Amino acid sequence: MKNIKNILAVFGTRPEAIKMCPLVIELKKRQSLSTVVCVSGQHRNMLDGVLYEFGVLPDDDMNIMRDGQTLFDITTAVLGGAKDAIERYRPDIVLVHGDTSTAFAVSLAAFYLRVPVAHIEAGLRSDNISEPFPEELNRRAIALMAKYHFAPTDAARQNLLREGIADRDIFVVGNTVTDALKITVKKDFSHPVLDFARDGELIFVTAHRRENLGANMDNIMIALRRIAEQYERVRMVIPMHKNPAVRDCVLRHLDGCGRVMLTEPLDVFDCHNIIARSKIILTDSGGIQEEAVSLGIPTLVLRSVTERAEGESLGTLRLVGCNEDRIVESFAELFTDEKKYKKAARAATLYGDGSTCRKIADILENITL
Ligand code: UD1
Ligand code: UDP
Repeated sequence: MKNIKNILAVFGTRPEAIKMCPLVIELKKRQSLSTVVCVSGQHRNMLDGVLYEFGVLPDDDMNIMRDGQTLFDITTAVLGGAKDAIERYRPDIVLVHGDTSTAFAVSLAAFYLRVPVAHIEAGLRSDNISEPFPEELNRRAIALMAKYHFAPTDAARQNLLREGIADRDIFVVGNTVTDALKITVKKDFSHPVLDFARDGELIFVTAHRRENLGANMDNIMIALRRIAEQYERVRMVIPMHKNPAVRDCVLRHLDGCGRVMLTEPLDVFDCHNIIARSKIILTDSGGIQEEAVSLGIPTLVLRSVTERAEGESLGTLRLVGCNEDRIVESFAELFTDEKKYKKAARAATLYGDGSTCRKIADILENITL
């Protein structure tokens, strides 16, 4: 039996970085722990921006991103890169986050090398293996390989128990996104996006899911155009994901559309402050659903299933799928019915109160392997 001393944290995409940087910052404060950060570079610019803003300098970088990368490219490159990193740094434990292919391949490498894995944001399930794709498979597989499971909510814990994970290995700690929001959201904030929306209502939109590319994404964009054309006070802001397939679709449908501002991906501090000041969000993102609940911003979820069911029960999140008419009608209801809007616009601490990183670090300092 020994205490953990050497930690290797590995991540590679924008959302993982946003949720892992606050944890890395907390772990680096702990005298008894030595924390090394290795990034896969599954995302390049979108990842680097987040690292820069949080002031996290990686110790190592697999630099795997290629234009048009497939799931095979990501998984094989990260598997090899993670093997090298684990052999180089010989950690007592490897930290991964969420459900990306980086997290999956790193867990597999650690499992093959018999190094324990701690999974942050464990236990989220849509119970549909095809949606989100391939994330539902990734997170279920990571649960099989991980030794410790840091679940954000009790519902996530129940999912893990249902899959046979031992209760003693599950820790319900909240979601590190609430720690991130504590760092990023400021009282005083100005930005060209807020100037654009000054004489109307800020509607914040993102879409990027792999399984939505194609007909679903077209439907979403057509619905957004109808909304922008119909409501005079709508000021719609859409930061476009770097994926060329997403950008092509957004530009094809919305370039030049009045009341719509298309932007490059926003820096994370700006993004969180803009979300916090939005009237309504439309998104297929995972992380933005948690941010919406934490900040109390009514959100239409552009998916047919969600792994954030708690937010749906609360009423802040409403699952609307990718049907054009349903999106327009659901928006109309929220935008024009003040009573319904107010009911949905309540901030909640379902995903934590900003102390998740401290709780995880305390546990890592005290468990024995
Ligand atoms: C990945 C994750 C998804 C997560 C999303 C967050 C997997 C399988 N998917 O999906 O769970 O929700 O990140 O955004 O792990 N690109 C750039 N620059 C960047 C980032 C991306 O050019 O900084 C382009 C590349 O051409 C790349 C494409 O975007 O080929 C798609 O990126 P990829 O990581 O393959 O998939 P995502 O859809 O971003
Ligand atoms: N985000 C950002 N800039 C943007 C769009 C999103 O910083 O232009 C942040 C957002 O606030 C959230 C995270 O990126 O914290 C979500 O990432 P994404 O939607 O790409 O991935 P998912 O959460 O769906 O895996």
